[in-house]
Amino acid sequence: MPAPLDWYKDAVFYEVPIRSFMDGSGDGFGDFAGLTERLDYVAALGVTAIWVLPFYPSPLRDDGYDIADYHAVDERYGTLEDFRRFVERAHELGLKVVTELVINHTSIDHPWFQRARRAPAGTIERDFYVWSDTDERFPDARIIFTFSEDSNWAWDEVAGAYYWHRFFSHQPDLNYDNPAVHAAVLEIVDFWLSMGVDGMRLDAVPYLYVRDGTNGENLPETHAYLKTLRGYVDQHYPGTMLLAEANQWPEDAVAYFGDGDECHMNFHFPLMPRLYMAIARGDRTPVREILAGTPEIPDSSQWGIFVRNHDELTLEMVTDDERAFMFDTYAQDPRAPLNVGIRRRLAPLMNGDHRKIRLMLGLLFSLPGSPFLYYGDEIGMGDELDLPDRDGVRTPMQWDDSPNAGFSRVPEGELYAPPIADEQFGYDRVNVAAQQPDPDSQLNWVRRIIAERRKHPAFGRGKVDWFEPADEAVLAYRLAHGTGTVFVAANFADRPAIVDVPDGVDVFSGRRVSGSLTLDPYGFRWISITGRA
Ligand code: NOJ
Repeated sequence: MPAPLDWYKDAVFYEVPIRSFMDGSGDGFGDFAGLTERLDYVAALGVTAIWVLPFYPSPLRDDGYDIADYHAVDERYGTLEDFRRFVERAHELGLKVVTELVINHTSIDHPWFQRARRAPAGTIERDFYVWSDTDERFPDARIIFTFSEDSNWAWDEVAGAYYWHRFFSHQPDLNYDNPAVHAAVLEIVDFWLSMGVDGMRLDAVPYLYVRDGTNGENLPETHAYLKTLRGYVDQHYPGTMLLAEANQWPEDAVAYFGDGDECHMNFHFPLMPRLYMAIARGDRTPVREILAGTPEIPDSSQWGIFVRNHDELTLEMVTDDERAFMFDTYAQDPRAPLNVGIRRRLAPLMNGDHRKIRLMLGLLFSLPGSPFLYYGDEIGMGDELDLPDRDGVRTPMQWDDSPNAGFSRVPEGELYAPPIADEQFGYDRVNVAAQQPDPDSQLNWVRRIIAERRKHPAFGRGKVDWFEPADEAVLAYRLAHGTGTVFVAANFADRPAIVDVPDGVDVFSGRRVSGSLTLDPYGFRWISITGRA
């Protein structure tokens, strides 16, 4: 049976930076050959889609989000042929492939920029980017990379003008007022989608257009452009999913769904830090409030739920007090803060407490939307705060306890980054090979929970009803889809909690439950009330 056009509603995504996953070529750098060889592992997790981070030729000053050529594979990752083989193998295993469409900015190394800076002002070539004689335009646009940038303008000697950049100064923003930029984007879209890519994450999508007198985010022009892009993709590549990376408050974030005619998916950024707040406070309120304040979304739209990713744990969508609380609680190490966030992984954030890690993952896999699991979180990988920028959460995948964590056969010390080797999360103890045979390992637990999720389409498709248990530590909700209904109760507190549940079957134990039951500290239950909705 062909996959439905809205396959993303039932999907479980797995996020992979290719550089970090598996080195097939033996140069200390993960690549498509290695990833393709390890796709069996990915499929065996039970995930249904793989999201790969940028792999295009790049000076890698922002890990490939600084693209120098949109129509090729960086040779460190392999060749276009390797990419094709990767897509083919993923599809054989039933995995959808999601790639990155980074169209807000390029690298300064991109030929478009090199051409632009030399082209006379006012030409189409020059106007691929946004230029100004002063660095004082658009004063209301915030700075995103606060640790490295103090302006959104950078001076270019060759052009004799300032260029606009919302991220690093080596990433000039493309100019969406230039129709030639739109045409160039469609060529990129055609290039990858015609090779069988099933979905694209639209990096940094709120910032495409900029206008005087605005903060340069979420502008009507940006939404209009995205609708056009969606129309094109629907017409030429039906069933392709567009995923917005729109780190915005709920009311602005939902705008990226349009009326079901813009992006199919968008990450729920405001929810993510509130899961951490709730577990630290033993109180559901932060999660409950943000979800209560999230407008309904069109039927065909879907939230992307995540607890961690390749970036810092962003705290842009919280209040000042909440941010202070998050930094106090989770970033006591002075090396942990980065920009407006915290550059740590899930397991260290939870102090390695399995109950808390499992609660966070339990919510990841059951809150309304489709989950995105970050590579390595299935085995509880740690991070390395001595590495610069966000590199410490992008270390080599820990396959086994052999040198280089089984990631590469180069001599130790020649990897793109060292594997985690600390006492708690080091590869000698936290690795796939050690967890495979252990039925109680985190890896096998993650496989089980994904398998259970997939048995119940209500998780991805259900209409949600929230309950307000008397104990404020408990988050409780019901997801109903057709005759399949699931009830979830999660205890954010470090003490037992009582909750009333409907008659049903505990998904994990297979036992019947009804009435009131006691949740363990940080415990959660999924109860199936199939056929009784
Ligand atoms: C968002 C990406 O997730 C991040 O890694 C990158 O640095 C910025 N966009 C800029 O491209």
